[in-house]
Amino acid sequence: MLKIFKNHPLHKHNTFRIKVSAKFYAVPETSGEIIAILRKYRKPDQDLLIIGEGSNILLTNDFQGLIIRPDIKGIEILDKSSDNAKIKVWAGENWDNFVVYCINNGFGGVENLSWIPGSVGACPIQNIGAYGAEVKNVIESVTGILTDSLEQITFTRDKCNFGYRDSIFKQELKDRFIITNVIFKLSKNPVFNTTYGRLQDELAGNKKIDLQSVRQAVIKIRKDKLPDPDKFGSAGSFFRNPVISKNKFNHLRSDYPDIPSYPVNLQEVKVAAGWLVEKAGWAGKRIGDAGVYNKQALILLNYGSATGNQIKELAEKIIVSVNKKFGIDLQTEVNII
Ligand code: FAD
Ligand code: EPU
Repeated sequence: MLKIFKNHPLHKHNTFRIKVSAKFYAVPETSGEIIAILRKYRKPDQDLLIIGEGSNILLTNDFQGLIIRPDIKGIEILDKSSDNAKIKVWAGENWDNFVVYCINNGFGGVENLSWIPGSVGACPIQNIGAYGAEVKNVIESVTGILTDSLEQITFTRDKCNFGYRDSIFKQELKDRFIITNVIFKLSKNPVFNTTYGRLQDELAGNKKIDLQSVRQAVIKIRKDKLPDPDKFGSAGSFFRNPVISKNKFNHLRSDYPDIPSYPVNLQEVKVAAGWLVEKAGWAGKRIGDAGVYNKQALILLNYGSATGNQIKELAEKIIVSVNKKFGIDLQTEVNII
C-alpha cells in the first residue's frame, strides 16, 4: 500500500525543526512505488520536493505540492573478491548507520565522514565532506528515476560533476531526479587520511590507528564543534566556504594576516566562511529565536520557535554584512525551500 499523507506536519522531518506542513507527503519503500506515486499523484502544475532526513533544508512556508521521501532500505555487498568491496546502498538508509556498517566490516573510505546526519540518497547531492574526505572518492555510481519520463538512469562517478558541495544532482537535475541507490567502492586495506589538522591532533595520542579510532576522533571533534541537535535546530554549515581569486586573497591577507585559507588551484583560494562571519561580528548573535552558534559562526540555529523566514532573514543580514566588510558574497549551502 502506498503511504501518502495529506496536510502532513514537517517539524519532525527537518533538523531546523521548522513548523510547517506538506499538502501531500509520500513515503515510497521501493523504486516501483516511486514510479506509482509520480504516475498517480503528480500534477503538472504542482511543486515537487524530494527529501531525505531534512538535515540540509530550510523550509520557509507550508509546502503546497507533493513531497517524496524515498524510504527504500537495504545494504548489499555486490563484490568483495578483490582489494575492494563494492556495496549497493538504498537511498532510505541512514548515512551514519552505513558508516558503522563499513567500520564493523573493515571497509575503509567513509570513516572521516562519521556522524554526518542524513540519508544515503542525499549524500551525492552536495558531495558530503568533512575532515579532508569527500564522498565522491568512494562513489562508483548513482542510480535514480527521472521525475518527468520515469526513466531509471545510472550515473557513473565521472558523470556526476562532483565538486566542493556540488554535483549534477544539485544543479541541472535538481528536483528532477530521485536517487534510489548508490554503489560505493570501499577499501579492504584502508589507508588512513588523517592530515586534517584537528584530526591529526586528536589522534596523536593513539598507539594504533584503525577505522574505529578515526571514527571516535571525528565524533569527538564534531561533538565539540557542532550544536547539540536535541537542544537546537540547525542544518550544519549554512554557507559554503567561498572560493576567491588569489589576487583578492592576497589583498585580504594584507589586512587580515590570520585569515584561514586552503589552496584550490593556482588561481584560486578557499577561505573559511565561519571566520568571515565571526569577524563580521555575528558569533553568538540572536534575533528572536534565530541565532548564530557562538562556537562555529557558520551554523545558524533555531532556539525554539523561529520560522524559516526568520532564519532566512538572519542569513540575508549576514550576507550583506560580510559583503560590506570583506567584499565577498557568501553562498548558502542549505537548500532554501
Ligand atoms: P535533505 O536535507 O532531506 O535534502 C538535501 C537536498 O537533497 C535537498 O535538495 C533534497 O531535495 C535533496 N535530496 C534528498 N534526498 C534525495 C534523493 N533521494 N534524491 C534526490 N534528491 C534528494 N554536510 C556535509 O557535507 N558535511 C558535514 O560535516 C555536515 N555536517 C552537518 C552537521 C549537522 C549538525 C547538520 C544538521 C547537517 C550537516 N551537514 C553536513 C549537512 C547534511 O548532513 C548533508 O547535506 C546530508 O547529506 C543531507 O541529507 P538529508 O537526507 O538530510 O537530505
Ligand atoms: N573558524 C573561525 N570562526 C568560526 C568558525 C570557523 O575562525 O566561527 C575558522 C576555524 O578556526 C578554522 C576554519 O575557520 O580555522 C575552518 O573551520 P572548521 O574546521 O570548523 O570547518 P569549516 O570550514 O567551518 C567545513 C565544512 C563542515 C565540515 C568541517 C570539517 C563547509 C561549508 N563546512 O566547516 O561541513 O564538517 O569543514 O571538515 O565546507 C556542513 O557542510 O554542513 C558541515 C558542517
